[in-house]
Amino acid sequence: MESSNAGLADKIQSLKREKNAIILAHNYQLGEVQDVADFVGDSLELSQQAARTQAEVIVFCGVHFMAETASILSPDKIVLLPEVNAGCPMANMITAEKLRQKKKELPQATVVSYINTTAAVKAESDLCCTSTNAVDLVAGLENEQILFVPDKYLGLYVSSRVKGKKITLWPGFCPVHAGIKPGHILKLKKEYPLAKVVVHPECRPEVIEIADEVLSTGGMCRYAKLEGVTQMIVGTEIGIIHRMQKENPGKLFIPVFKQAVCPTMKMITLDKIIRSLETLSPEVKVPEDIRVKAIGAVNRMLEIC
Ligand code: 13P
Ligand code: SF4
Repeated sequence: MESSNAGLADKIQSLKREKNAIILAHNYQLGEVQDVADFVGDSLELSQQAARTQAEVIVFCGVHFMAETASILSPDKIVLLPEVNAGCPMANMITAEKLRQKKKELPQATVVSYINTTAAVKAESDLCCTSTNAVDLVAGLENEQILFVPDKYLGLYVSSRVKGKKITLWPGFCPVHAGIKPGHILKLKKEYPLAKVVVHPECRPEVIEIADEVLSTGGMCRYAKLEGVTQMIVGTEIGIIHRMQKENPGKLFIPVFKQAVCPTMKMITLDKIIRSLETLSPEVKVPEDIRVKAIGAVNRMLEIC
């Protein structure tokens, strides 16, 4: 760590103790942010941590829907998002009002919402899922009719793995993963014939088709540790490479596409974490009327997985 970052990191550690805070960071965060976090993980792992922490303050280094999920699960805690404008473009591709309208068209359907949704959308959903458990959760539903929102590509991936369901998709997508094209992978496969190709299920179907593994970011980090894996072509946001490299020195991790950068995930900096801990703001607090409606869908997911 650079000496200026080391100074900031020390300050964060002492503020954390003073405020009884925990820092949770998503796998796509800047390397220096991952390095000061108490826990780095995927959406499911971060929700599990937020639900069980004893800390009074949760500093969420991720995007807005993640902080909202922490607030849904731990309403008695102060949940901070060091950059309040760090949103997820995909989560903004659906609103509670639009979902209510769609539900009128499909009154029999079970509504499964990807965790990349606002609390208000979760409040209109029967079940929440992440990239780790979407296939298993949908497969375990009794109802044949599913409305899956908002990621059409994750929904298509689930449809390809779960038989006997009629899955209606919402036209949302992640701009970062949609930017990954088969050509990027095919070119790298020629250069690195021994490398395993691992992609995220938010990718396009034609990308998923040519991958060796389709995994959540947490799943990718576990896969990277396997003995037989020495080179990996990584089909997701490039921030994850920092963690992979740190946990597996000596192995080679190749980003599938160097422009696969989520700008809002990169908005959180060490300076902003310090300001957030000092001022206990910006706080993300889900209004109680929405929280009580949203928690059912989130808890149902956490109970099953
Ligand atoms: P996971 O880390 O849960 O796989 O999700 C990726 C993502 O896009 C989060 O915004
Ligand atoms: Fe949203 Fe995609 Fe960024 Fe994840 S990577 S926060 S899904 S825009």
